[in-house]
Amino acid sequence: MKTYKIAVIAGDGIGPEVLKEGIKVLNTISELDSSIQFEFTHFPWGCEYYHHNGVMMDNDGIEQLKSFDAIYLGAVGYPGVPDHISLWDLLLKIRKSFDQYINIRPITLLNGATCPLKGVKQSEVDMLFIRENSEGEYAGAGDWLFKGQANEVVLQNSVFSRKGTERVIRFAFEVARKEGKSLTSISKANALNYSMVFWDQIFDEMKQEYPDVQTSSYLVDAAAMLMITDPKRFEVVVTSNLFGDILTDLGAALAGGIGLAAGANINPERDFPSMFEPIHGSAPDIAGKGLANPLAAIWSASQLLDHLGYENYGKIILQSIEQLLIEKKSLTPDMDGTATCSQVGDEVIKHITTQNRVNIQN
Ligand code: NAD
Ligand code: IPM
Ligand code: MN
Repeated sequence: MKTYKIAVIAGDGIGPEVLKEGIKVLNTISELDSSIQFEFTHFPWGCEYYHHNGVMMDNDGIEQLKSFDAIYLGAVGYPGVPDHISLWDLLLKIRKSFDQYINIRPITLLNGATCPLKGVKQSEVDMLFIRENSEGEYAGAGDWLFKGQANEVVLQNSVFSRKGTERVIRFAFEVARKEGKSLTSISKANALNYSMVFWDQIFDEMKQEYPDVQTSSYLVDAAAMLMITDPKRFEVVVTSNLFGDILTDLGAALAGGIGLAAGANINPERDFPSMFEPIHGSAPDIAGKGLANPLAAIWSASQLLDHLGYENYGKIILQSIEQLLIEKKSLTPDMDGTATCSQVGDEVIKHITTQNRVNIQN
């Protein structure tokens, strides 16, 4: 039997509610396959922890997380703690400390999910965003000069290193080649005359090594428009940290809503644990009411299983989510249903059990 050590950081707002369902799902997988076991360690870090202890995580928090096989995170940020403190001292700290430089965000319209676009077929919204996750606009480099004075100045510098840019673009080319899909780079070299000219140059250089991969390059403003008017253009997509953040919320809206969108923060070398999380935030407006949609957290549990080498179970989870979306019996209010967060979790589990039985019989 193989035991996987999972660090759970449920965090703030709806984080604990949605992760509870994801954990139920992972436990269901280990009940169905007795060769897999999960050992969950819960870390109480987040905004409430900050109120009591003055820090978002323990000072040696990164050290504590190092030995885990994966990190499963809910959401971070809550009114009362400035967002730039809560996020920089917990979520972004983990992404950076563990060099999780790849952020994989599938924008796939599952069967049964609602797409707000007119006349778009389900198969036409199927993008895989690969977002640079370690530097770029999120480098955290800058300064705040002459605070409060008439000559006040703030600087927020982007950092695009050759190593950082090459490794994310190479990763995306490899994925596109493996999946036999096209690769689109999204940048903004007309205005960002250093960083994005450099990005485009590296994309063009690397193209030479992947003549079998069909490529396109778009400016980010046009890309945002095309994602709405012609989403089928986009298959594998590579883009910078900030553009990837924004475009994947847009993508989430195309593929069933923010309550369904998942993301994996990956350290491909596996020198450090990778982290799995829904892409939504702590949703303070609905927290604690049982209204949160757990499907994004459950989808990220399926990414976690993929990462541990159990793609078969990752797939069963996705098929179960899809089944639930087709039936429309058990959905949370954001999907026009009346079910609670935990009822949706229970329903996914029912489908997983059925799906697993079917797979074993075949
Ligand atoms: P949000 O994603 O929390 O919420 C945006 C809207 O989507 C809200 O109306 C919310 O109710 C709804 N929503 C989000 N997730 C949902 C779900 N699972 N089910 C149903 N509805 C859902 O974004 P925000 O309001 O901009 O941010 C709130 C806080 O979360 C801020 O502190 C922000 O910094 C933080 N945040 C954290 C993460 C993260 O931890 N990964 C991501 C985004 C935002
Ligand atoms: C996300 C979030 C984070 C990001 C925030 C909370 C720092 O919006 O994961 O999409 O911008 O990366
Ligand atoms: Mn975001």
